[in-house]
Amino acid sequence: MKTAIIYYSYSGKTKKYCENMAAELSADILEVQTVKRKCFLSNLFTECPKALQQQPTDILPIDLDLSGYEKIILAAPMWAGFPAPPFNNMVAMLPKGKQVEIYIVSASGETDPIKKEKVIVLTEETGSKVIKYTDICGADIK
Ligand SMILES: Cc1cc2nc3c(=O)[nH]c(=O)nc-3n(C[C@H](O)[C@H](O)[C@H](O)COP(=O)(O)O)c2cc1C
Repeated sequence: MKTAIIYYSYSGKTKKYCENMAAELSADILEVQTVKRKCFLSNLFTECPKALQQQPTDILPIDLDLSGYEKIILAAPMWAGFPAPPFNNMVAMLPKGKQVEIYIVSASGETDPIKKEKVIVLTEETGSKVIKYTDICGADIK
């Protein structure tokens, strides 16, 4: 199954996890980057509210046509209990009718069930199907 991995990582844990997964699955991999790399406090005050509202943020242009992939893996760190805002940019890029797996890397290693459901609903509004949602504890990524 042709698979694409699209991820955002602020401090490198999600990046490492995705690079390992891409090697295992022989998948194509794409890093989404924000226009500006903000400091922790700036992320806390300007990006965490976007995460809470499941809003996108300003990212650099992406040059990848996802239509040729059957499975698309989305991965991002958890911010304020939700995926970091670039995850919402990734969701907006999804073509219809894809199988989607979601990987969320966090300090706790656990998404609140209500928030998890909201993330799945947002993703499936694009016409794709979430077939897997996996929580990963950042400390476990070597
Ligand atoms: C702005 C910000 C908010 C965060 N919010 C949470 C949170 O709500 N829950 C949690 O478990 N971890 C939270 N974390 C920790 C990250 O999810 C964790 O360090 C993750 O492994 C980072 O992945 P990365 O290295 O790919 O950026 C937060 C980190 C940042 C920078």
